[in-house]
Amino acid sequence: MMGVRFAVVVVLVVFGVLDSFSLAANVTYDHRALVIDGERRVLVSGSIHYPRSTPEMWPGLIQKSKDGGLDVIETYVFWNLHEPVRNQYNFEGRNDLVKFIKLVGAAGLYVHVRIGPYVCAEWNYGGFPVWLHFIPGIEFRTDNEPFKAEMKRFTAKIVDVLKQEKLYASQGGPVILSQIENEYGNIQSHYGSAAKSYVQWAATMATSLNTGVPWVMCNQPDAPDPIINTCNGFYCDQFTPNSKNKPKMWTENWSGWFLSFGGASPYRPVEDLAFAVARFYQNGGTFQNYYMYHGGTNFGRTTGGPFIATSYDYDAPIDEYGQVRQPKWGHLREVHKAIKMCEKALVSTEPAVSSLGQNLEATVYKSSSVCSAFLANVNTQSDATVTFNGNSYHLPAWSVSILPDCKNVVLNTAKINSVTMRSSFSNQPLKVDVSASEAFDSGWSWIEEPVGISKNNSFAKLGLSEQINTTADKSDYLWYSLSTDIKGDEPFLENGSETVLHVDSLGHALHVFINGKLAGSGKGSSDNSKVSLEIPITMVPGRNTIDLLSLTVGLQNYGAFFEKRGAGVTGPVKLESQKNSITVDLSSGQWTYQIGLKGEDLGLSSGSSSQWLSQPSLPKNKPLTWYKTTFDAPAGSDPVALDFTGFGKGEAWINGQSIGRYWPSYTASGQCTASCNYKGAYSANKCLKNCGKPSQTLYHVPRSWLKPTGNTVVLFEEIGSDPTRLSFASKQIESLCSHVSESHPPPIDMWSSDSKLQKKGPVLSLECPSPNQVISSIKFASFGTPHGTCGSFSHGQCSSQNALSIVQKACIGSKSCSVQVSIEALGNPCRGKTKSLAVEASCH
Ligand code: GAL
Repeated sequence: MMGVRFAVVVVLVVFGVLDSFSLAANVTYDHRALVIDGERRVLVSGSIHYPRSTPEMWPGLIQKSKDGGLDVIETYVFWNLHEPVRNQYNFEGRNDLVKFIKLVGAAGLYVHVRIGPYVCAEWNYGGFPVWLHFIPGIEFRTDNEPFKAEMKRFTAKIVDVLKQEKLYASQGGPVILSQIENEYGNIQSHYGSAAKSYVQWAATMATSLNTGVPWVMCNQPDAPDPIINTCNGFYCDQFTPNSKNKPKMWTENWSGWFLSFGGASPYRPVEDLAFAVARFYQNGGTFQNYYMYHGGTNFGRTTGGPFIATSYDYDAPIDEYGQVRQPKWGHLREVHKAIKMCEKALVSTEPAVSSLGQNLEATVYKSSSVCSAFLANVNTQSDATVTFNGNSYHLPAWSVSILPDCKNVVLNTAKINSVTMRSSFSNQPLKVDVSASEAFDSGWSWIEEPVGISKNNSFAKLGLSEQINTTADKSDYLWYSLSTDIKGDEPFLENGSETVLHVDSLGHALHVFINGKLAGSGKGSSDNSKVSLEIPITMVPGRNTIDLLSLTVGLQNYGAFFEKRGAGVTGPVKLESQKNSITVDLSSGQWTYQIGLKGEDLGLSSGSSSQWLSQPSLPKNKPLTWYKTTFDAPAGSDPVALDFTGFGKGEAWINGQSIGRYWPSYTASGQCTASCNYKGAYSANKCLKNCGKPSQTLYHVPRSWLKPTGNTVVLFEEIGSDPTRLSFASKQIESLCSHVSESHPPPIDMWSSDSKLQKKGPVLSLECPSPNQVISSIKFASFGTPHGTCGSFSHGQCSSQNALSIVQKACIGSKSCSVQVSIEALGNPCRGKTKSLAVEASCH
């Protein structure tokens, strides 16, 4: 019998049918941890949202997550992708949730499926399909029958899809956890007593679906049993679940923060992130998830907001393009290994906390057979030296040391052994195929989008209508058009009458055309989406047309009653002659409406249509213009982006696929810092870069969307640009750097393989990022007191003569190399000082 079963398994493995999960696992929990098949587990998780990359990228992202030390991959489920029309489901391409889960499972990792179905996530309308808003009597996220019916139907649908594919651990699949709702606790006070019954209902509904694995609710202090309430935030070490029977879990550790159009780029130093992670496990946590581990891209019109940028890079350990971000990824990998070295102790007992002085804390996990300890210095300024178990330990400010054997420090969160990479984007012009296009010299052709009403499904209405109720979000664009007759004797025509038009809009952006000409534009911001315009205009005798093009930039995704936050020109709209102090309110006039653009109806984004023009000459800097060209893919397989520097605002498509909204003319406001002090509590606007520059110029074009030749790019430019300036940018790694001090512990791998290595002390290691590269030169090496960061290292007062030649000898011509950071290996340029080795190398 055993033999037959073995043979079957072998056959299945050989044919790739069987992935790492096939035997049902029993997932439960107790007060310390998730318990998988009877064993408590210490787990490290990371968020990757499947539609924010491509199926072609998924295997690489999953592998890099596994190599980075993750056990679990978490994703939300995006209702508006899967059910764009009620009862019509889409699980294809980037929406292929099942394929994504299977790939994670095949890599041997677990999955946490956060169904929501409200997800927030900087995603359009928080993940809700806009049709939901039009169901009679509906109120979102409260004890409302129509809403509950839809939420239950979709949640049950997803659970059913997963069950059909046997994806739950209880069925032998990788899914060990599910989430219902999302941070409802943050806003529930706005919903009165109905909130409590809604939470109760959601919990019962979820558990009744019998997934066989636990459910969580995040930021939900009153999550009913058996649902685990979990923590979201930059730090969760002080969190306690609402029952002594539930484990301490952290579902969102924000690895950075999201970017908005008009905002600066947030980044979170890895020393602080590592500190937060270590503090969590130190204080009894056993499950932690990076939000995001790979952020990716908000393709198409999927961004929420309003004003969420197309890039969702998030300063995550894997960057938007799918490449590891160093030293973030590498340092966290070391942190994960250090924590895993403590797993046995962590799961076998309760933490024992003791003070080692003010802001100094030791936590010991000790059972009869194992002992692990964490020593923390939570002081934001001063380093400390503490005595623990009779030994002395140096603890830098805002750091945790991890001692898997209660004696040796294998890692301190503030001491980075990992490499840093210095990269830059290099540009190359679009290789436009002039012959493939009917266009002449430039290779570009174009179509003008008509100003005002041009489609025959336009309609007239008295007064101003709210935008989302009008468009149902079928398009970003809504035209409001009004004709008004101005008689010869009216004050608005007089010379010097100083006529202005006032327009008030709920947002998110607006272009005003008077008699077919762009007269002014306005935009809101992520803080305040409203637009209030006052523009000088010139009227002519007789008929005048006022055309307002109002547009949304991602629908609200957060807050109580977010679905009621409207958009568009709700008024007033007024004409005023400032000289004569006469005002005419146009708000209640007969407005004509057009939903969307003519070019959208014609399907121009695909590049087809016979209407593309190529003569007489390419119009430039012209508002409302569609552009198209054919081009060759940039050589190689490196990730690429389109560089929209100098463009206005619009959307772009490659071979019919939208790479998202572009808006480089929106520059970043905010307070940037030249360098970020990782010590002390992090917050979303603590560390910003790029102030005063466009929030986003580079837009990811997934390689799999490109063919070697004959690619079509289509742009719709609202404001005006020169399409021939469009170029491709690709990321080049210029240098590999590392800076390791004599006080650093040796790299973790050396501990686990050779326990004696501790005497040899720290090691500086370099490894070229691509498998076919070797280290070709050492641009800088100094042992002593070097200053600066990768690309700007300089020698300090103390500097050994021979560090450069030692490093050159050890590294040049090899794919990777290691150098002992010690006076024995490198000489002693100055006595009595802690020295460090800084190296910058390049690979070819
Ligand atoms: C959380 C939310 C996530 C995401 C995050 C910010 O509050 O649960 O979905 O929006 O904030 O990136």
